Amino acid sequence: MVWYHGKGEPPAWEIPDIPEYGDEGWTPWERREWKVRSRNQELAENTVDPAHFRYLHKTNTMPTSEFRTDGPFLHVVSESKVETPKGEQTGRIEIDTCGFGFGTTRFKGVVDLLVVTSGAPVDDEHVHMRLCFSVRKLANSDATRGVGQAFITEIERQFSQDIAIWENKIHLEKPLLCDGDGPIAQLRKWARQFYSEDV
Ligand SMILES: [Fe+2]
Repeated sequence: MVWYHGKGEPPAWEIPDIPEYGDEGWTPWERREWKVRSRNQELAENTVDPAHFRYLHKTNTMPTSEFRTDGPFLHVVSESKVETPKGEQTGRIEIDTCGFGFGTTRFKGVVDLLVVTSGAPVDDEHVHMRLCFSVRKLANSDATRGVGQAFITEIERQFSQDIAIWENKIHLEKPLLCDGDGPIAQLRKWARQFYSEDV
């Protein structure tokens, strides 16, 4: 991990431990990466936009049930309905973001899944995004592999839908928000601390 501060100040926080890292009960990391013409803040706003999960990604429902900030940390919990062979079940998604460059997303339900996300701005227009995937092993290794592949395919699908929007949207400082748009204003307030100039 690399720390960068626009005015050369030293690191102001530590990234959290990932308890799944090195745990035998979890599969080895699978990595995917993208170079996206966007900004870290736009990518962060994606996580608190419940409406787009429903209407862009076509997931069932996705209300944000919890949004909490603590200094550079942001904690978002959502619940979603997922189709399973045993019928519709509720899954829980916990997103822990640490600054603009590092985060974890944990899917908890019938299967437990982890995505570690990191994004680094590489020039004035692009962010290099890396996603690392791990799955809590099931009793059967073929089933674990199948779940892992389905999971990665689904996230890749959602991510490519997001990229089309990130690369074509315009940032409005004062967007017109309506019911169901999620805590965008709170997220932007939280995000201000990561700029070395006032924004
Ligand atoms: Fe998205």
